[in-house]
Amino acid sequence: MKITCVAGARPNFMKVKPVLDALERAGHQTELVHTGQHYDPAMSDVFFDDLGLRAPDVHLGVRSGTHAEQTARVMIAFEAHLDGSKPDWVVVPGDVNSTLACALVGAKAGCRVAHVEAGLRSGDWTMPEEINRVATDRVSDLLLAPSADAVDNLRGDGFAAHQIQLVGNVMIDTLLANVERARQRPILDDLGLVRGEYVLTTLHRPSNVDHPEVLDGLIRAIGAVGEWLRVVLPAHPRVRAQLAGRALPPGLTVIDPAGYLDFVALQDGARLVMTDSGGVQEETTVLGVPCLTLRTTTERPITVTEGTNRLVGIDPDAIMTAAGVVLGREVERRRPELWDGRAGSRIAAAIDGFEVDAIDLRQPARAEELV
Ligand code: UD1
Ligand code: UDP
Repeated sequence: MKITCVAGARPNFMKVKPVLDALERAGHQTELVHTGQHYDPAMSDVFFDDLGLRAPDVHLGVRSGTHAEQTARVMIAFEAHLDGSKPDWVVVPGDVNSTLACALVGAKAGCRVAHVEAGLRSGDWTMPEEINRVATDRVSDLLLAPSADAVDNLRGDGFAAHQIQLVGNVMIDTLLANVERARQRPILDDLGLVRGEYVLTTLHRPSNVDHPEVLDGLIRAIGAVGEWLRVVLPAHPRVRAQLAGRALPPGLTVIDPAGYLDFVALQDGARLVMTDSGGVQEETTVLGVPCLTLRTTTERPITVTEGTNRLVGIDPDAIMTAAGVVLGREVERRRPELWDGRAGSRIAAAIDGFEVDAIDLRQPARAEELV
């Protein structure tokens, strides 16, 4: 079959690599479309180099804009591309605007659509990614769930059993394939960091970064932790813009966004990670590094129940208290089912084995069934 895989923003590159590899091993003709949602070298090119991801077959070049502008530009450009390319399947990973845009276009173009990382739900409808998740799942044929809680969410939403496949976490495929290479990187020495004696932090959620009063509180809490251990913040462009001109606490070092291998090395060596990232909650769980999630909800509760993550919210005092507790004790290392480095192969098998004729509960009932 001809299968088009989409990537657009930073976390997509790690998710698409094992899927492309597995589809190619299974003998499919693949195509990689980069929407261009992320475009700075540190937000895009570095991942192609670090992961050995092949150059995109097509680059849509959409760049930044409002949600509507960005989503619409991806849709227009992707529709024009599909018109000529005519794949059997479109595979979309994650929950970014490019994910939803390409899923919608693929479904209307008559392609089968597979959603990698289906079924995650934060329950927070103010989060743009939650809208993207729910809407992408709804228009997808095949829902590739990373964890059992995601399967439960999809069943609860009424999807047909044959649409839902528990395949595990592709981001962990990429992590396990690269962690040893990451450990060889000199980034800790370059930054003057000692393994186990620093804290890594990332912030990029609009709810944290785009509200000065929230960001002030988070920086205050991070600064307080920085009085105990040095804190390093590889700054996503969204937070970088907000930090410009702001007085930063002395224990906090802000650096450019890190490449993948450097960032994995920084996570692996950290005593504690404090983040609002989705993927970082998962990677710290597998690396066995304690993580405090600076949000009030998570779409990845399995990293709390079966990992090293704690959801601590955004209250500065609560964050400082939680950091003090976590720094004072050893963390138990656990790993969710099927986060084993083989999710990409399971995805290829699920696409191969998808039963087009299986009963689809989303189809309207036939007239004779209604009498
Ligand atoms: C996006 C995703 C978010 C994901 C994050 C991963 C959506 C709605 N959001 O958020 O789910 O967690 O990516 O990193 O899709 N910018 C640059 N250079 C770039 C890219 C962005 O400077 O290469 C700046 C631009 O000012 C842009 C802003 O960052 O307006 C936000 O970028 P955008 O892709 O819209 O959202 P993210 O916050 O990156
Ligand atoms: N990451 C990276 N460099 C950084 C920050 C994150 O390579 O400076 C990687 C991280 O290891 C993970 C992914 O980017 O694989 C997570 O992406 P991000 O936090 O941007 O988005 P989210 O997962 O929240 O959607």
